[in-house]
Amino acid sequence: MLKSHSISVPFQQGDYSMLQAVRGMQDILPSQAHHWQQVENQLQQLAKRYAYQEIRFPILEKTDLFHRSMGEMTDIIEKEIYSFPDSKGQMLSLRPEGTAGCVRAAIEQGLLGKPQRLWYLGPMFRHERPQKGRYRQFHQFGIEAFGMKGPYIEAEHLLILYRLWEILGIQDQVSLELNSLGETSSLSQYRAQLVDYFTRYQADLDVDSKRRLQKNPLRILDSKNPQLQDLINAAPKLSSHLDSESYQHFQDLQDLLKTANIPFTWNQRLVRGLDYYNKTVFEWIIQGESVAQNTVCAGGRYDHLVAQLGGPHTPAAGFAIGLERLIQLKAITGEHKNPDIYLILGDQVATTQGLALAENLRTALPNLNLEVDCLGGRFTAQFKRADKSCARLALILGPDEVQSNTIGLKSLRTSDQQKSLTYSELIAYLQQTLPL
Ligand code: HAM
Repeated sequence: MLKSHSISVPFQQGDYSMLQAVRGMQDILPSQAHHWQQVENQLQQLAKRYAYQEIRFPILEKTDLFHRSMGEMTDIIEKEIYSFPDSKGQMLSLRPEGTAGCVRAAIEQGLLGKPQRLWYLGPMFRHERPQKGRYRQFHQFGIEAFGMKGPYIEAEHLLILYRLWEILGIQDQVSLELNSLGETSSLSQYRAQLVDYFTRYQADLDVDSKRRLQKNPLRILDSKNPQLQDLINAAPKLSSHLDSESYQHFQDLQDLLKTANIPFTWNQRLVRGLDYYNKTVFEWIIQGESVAQNTVCAGGRYDHLVAQLGGPHTPAAGFAIGLERLIQLKAITGEHKNPDIYLILGDQVATTQGLALAENLRTALPNLNLEVDCLGGRFTAQFKRADKSCARLALILGPDEVQSNTIGLKSLRTSDQQKSLTYSELIAYLQQTLPL
């Protein structure tokens, strides 16, 4: 856990030094925000097609929630969670992931009496070492399904994801790795055997793995240290410890995926970094990306978490996609939409009438993208700005137009003469000519 410091703000009058964003936290500028909107819309549409409903829950939760759900010995809880006391001394944390908060909300709001398919999207916070694809504030799109114990629900999640990769045109850039952790009892037998095995070779382990040996031995299997690979490959296999129910569940899931033509690799070393999983776990790996941040999506089954957090026994499964990693993968298509119309205003009277004209046009043509010049000045300066905006048409409302109750219309992309139209002629013209 991060140390909390007393909150004193060392700002003094006259301190005009540049303030910068917190390290690892990024601004998303207008030039990128429309890519985000595109992807977010696609995710929301897709979730809807599979009958998932949105849930929103707080960014801040009691620290205890994350400790009880994710496990005390996980990297996130040990090193990465942002925690601090509020003014009453209650420890709070910025959510490092969505599953815990979603489960807490589902229990507290009584959603779990029937099967639920939920999705969420929003920022998460982890105090990791920032690098490409790894940030301290990042965004996840997550799905959680409650009340379904058969493997169909994991298959459905993997189908949603495969369809998403196809929609985004990135299906050749990602691959699916799958494993089964089995049930708690078989996993703890396996853990004991792993500890025995790695203890025998303790002298060969690196510092990280030695630390994990005591606290979280399964995570040694995740090590990317090239010098440990032979040792890890020769370690006892999780599959030989699977209980019969988990084994059958995993076989059935694989059959469903084969029927659906979803390619996957069974990675026996995949264990995931959070304690709540049982049975199925999976990751979608980005080809050719460095291993530190090559997972674009991860998830699995967590049948015991709801009960562990005080709810009714409820089977559950889900996944989360890292949006920064997804957006970085997607070949971006479609440009920022330029305004259709730029409205140029003459004197004070025209400005007052221009406000009404702009609002009437927005009411009459709901898809119109209309920018009004708010800087004023000479018509030539306004026309220059109109041109720069990349709008297709300029509308002109000057003293002459106010006088004659008309509106000037000039194409900014052709050499057509300026026209003078009444309001109803203008609406008819725009309806015909603009792709609204
Ligand atoms: P996770 O593997 O911790 O799982 O995170 C899911 C995804 O979030 C990762 O695969 C990655 O794409 C993205 N991600 C994680 N940390 C960062 C970071 N520091 N910067 C950028 N992206 C990051 C979970 O969070 C589980 N709650 C998933 C889940 C939902 N399991 C069941 N339901």
